[in-house]
This record gives sequence, C-alpha cells and structure tokens, in this order.
Amino acid sequence: MPVYEPQEDSALLQQFVAKLACGDVLDMGTGSGIQAVTAAACEAVQSVLAVDIDEEALVFAREHHAHEKVSYRKSDLFSGLKEEESFDTIIFNPPYLPNEEGDEHPALYGGKHGWELTVRFLKEAKRHLKAGGQVLLVVSTLANSEHVLREAQRLGWHHELLGEEAYFFERVSVHRLWRQP
Ligand SMILES: C[S@@+](CC[C@H](N)C(=O)[O-])C[C@H]1O[C@@H](n2cnc3c(N)ncnc32)[C@H](O)[C@@H]1O
Repeated sequence: MPVYEPQEDSALLQQFVAKLACGDVLDMGTGSGIQAVTAAACEAVQSVLAVDIDEEALVFAREHHAHEKVSYRKSDLFSGLKEEESFDTIIFNPPYLPNEEGDEHPALYGGKHGWELTVRFLKEAKRHLKAGGQVLLVVSTLANSEHVLREAQRLGWHHELLGEEAYFFERVSVHRLWRQP
C-alpha cells in the first residue's frame, strides 16, 4: 500500500506539533514520519516513539526521517506498547474517511462512519498519557467532527480548537486534548 504522502491535514497539524510538542512524544500513525521528525526538531522534546500499523510506512519513515531522538515501531494503536510506556504529547492524524465496500486502506479509512478508529484511540490514549500530558488530534467533518468531540468529552477529555481549514468537501481541524489532573 502506498505510504500516506503528507497532505493539507498533515501540514496543519505540523504547525501545532512544531509549537507545542514537548517531553516524551508518541506519534501515532506516523506514515511518512513527518510529525515525528517535526517533533524531534523541538528543543522541548526528549524522545519520539513513532508507530504505525503499516510496515511499509515504517520502512519509508526509517529511511527518510531518521533522527537520533526518533524510534519507529509497528503497532495497531497502542497494542504494541508496554502498559508502563507513557507520554507527555501524543500526536494523531488519523485515517478518517468512512469505509465503503471493499475499502481497506489503513492510511485513509477510519471505520464505517470514519470516526470509529479515532474514538478507539481516545479510549485507549488515556492509559498512556502522563499527568499534565496533551493530545494533538486532527478531526474532519467527513468523519462527523461534532460526534468525535462529544465522544471525547464523554470519555473525560477536555479540548480546545487550535486551528482549522476548509478544503473542497471538508473542514479539517486540529484540537488539543487533555485530562483533568
Ligand atoms: C492520515 S495518515 C497520517 C500520516 C502522518 N501522520 C501525517 O500526518 O501525514 C494515517 C496513518 O495512520 C496509520 N494507521 C491506520 N490505522 C492505524 C492503527 N490502527 N494503528 C496505528 N496506525 C494506524 C496509517 O497506516 C497511516 O500511516
């Protein structure tokens, strides 16, 4: 499967990663490695673990975005992490297109409605976030942004809008999420 070439959503998220990433960082669904290497360039970042379900993406990222602070690992969301691994910043630009019959590409499709993988991520992320930690998350109207943010709140996340952009058929936004201490 082709590796996800950074798109407008990647660029929008990248701006906030460059400003806000700190401490130990997890780049979920690293794809080409663009967010991982952006985070690694921040002085406030100590380490970056970049994971992806797609082995080809990891081969590409290791080759094109190697950095002394970054290590790459295969993982389906958090399943490849040890229970005790936790992070100050978790980044995720998820696949969010609603699946159509036969569509399986992991870089693009997020489930029947598009938001299923993001909600699974929000359920699992809290176990791997350090106290005072933050999540930087991309959300799209194609995957019902309002539903995703309602689910986030129901799961105990606080959130703020960092930025958004409108493209042809969708509005993409980047949110910072955190948990009450
Ligand atoms: C929209 S791309 C984003 C790539 C990159 N982070 C960026 O901002 O350009 C989504 C990435 O998530 C990965 N992915 C999809 N499902 C995943 C899962 N269950 N666990 C980990 N990564 C997943 C895909 O392989 C793909 O590389």
